Amino acid sequence: MKILVTGGTGFIGSHTVVELQQKGFEVVIADNLSNSSLDVLDKITKITGIRPIFSKTDLSIQDETRTFFSKFPDIHAVIHFAAYKAVGESVDLPLKYYRNNLVSLMNILQCIKEHAIPYLVFSSSCTVYGQPDSLPVDESAPIKKALSPYGNTKQIAEEIITDFCEVTKMKAVLLRYFNPIGAHESSLIGELPIGIPSNLIPFITQTAIGKREFLNVWGNDYDTPDGTAIRDYIHVVDIAKAHVTTLERLLNESSNKKTEVFNLGTGVGYSVLQVIQSFEKMSGVKLDYRIKPRRPGDVEKVWADTQLANQVLGWKAEKDLDEMTLSAWNWEKHLKSLGTL
Ligand code: WQD
Repeated sequence: MKILVTGGTGFIGSHTVVELQQKGFEVVIADNLSNSSLDVLDKITKITGIRPIFSKTDLSIQDETRTFFSKFPDIHAVIHFAAYKAVGESVDLPLKYYRNNLVSLMNILQCIKEHAIPYLVFSSSCTVYGQPDSLPVDESAPIKKALSPYGNTKQIAEEIITDFCEVTKMKAVLLRYFNPIGAHESSLIGELPIGIPSNLIPFITQTAIGKREFLNVWGNDYDTPDGTAIRDYIHVVDIAKAHVTTLERLLNESSNKKTEVFNLGTGVGYSVLQVIQSFEKMSGVKLDYRIKPRRPGDVEKVWADTQLANQVLGWKAEKDLDEMTLSAWNWEKHLKSLGTL
């Protein structure tokens, strides 16, 4: 059964392709390689022994998207990752984000309709919750005004998909990721930030490997036990497996709802200092970090209520924080062995 994975050479996309192939699905990747590289295909092939079909496609261009779908008329479901995702950059370049993330989605939905593709899994985010009023945050929590154009594209995308499902035969599942981190156990695929990382884990591993002088800890005056902000970090392989479980749920027609939403988190929140402590323990490397003022736009604390995903979707995160930080460190060491800049 052929599954389209847009953004399939990216961080979460590549890990999901591996899990799909290992479950026997045939994968087609459409990616414009704007935030990933083609050699990820070789790495996926090395892990699974199966080379995914790949098409370099800019999904924000309608003709390119149409041409792609006409080349692959037998796609049975779409898992849509392809989007720009740098929160800070989205503040500086809102139109780049609104155009790419929303026009791409609409082009894909138009083709889904023309080809009568029945299922869509969408990569959404806990950023739609902003700073929740109560924790843990569940899927019925109010959507807060987005703190960035990036977060807003996720909110608007959810609404577009929901409205689209109402008037077509397509069924969709929106997966709200918390903080995906870590890397595949092979250390062949992982997070590959271009330039200076904005996310915590790549900055930690690049500091430990010597690519960065020290880590800035953005704020220790939050209302949390150690003053640093709390997030629900979740292993990228757990996220990937949730996509396979979700796809199987759709294929099995397990629900009569047109659209469903699930949080993908562990249900446990860790502070920045706790993540640093886990990393130092697992890597044996002492990290040079310095406390700095808060980063604008950051929420103070957020972690998931995972009951819906656990009980209805039938998925539960398996890996703990130490496995996450160790896998991220092994990946960084692998990059160094390749001489990757
Ligand atoms: C985590 C914590 C920072 C860097 C991410 C994605 C976003 C969404 C949710 C997918 C915060 C602190 C960070 C650093 C630090 N995922 N930090 N020093 O902001 O929660 O958002 O997950 O949609 O797209 O960006 O993740 O890793 O940037 O920050 O102290 O150098 O680490 O202040 O408290 P965030 P993050």
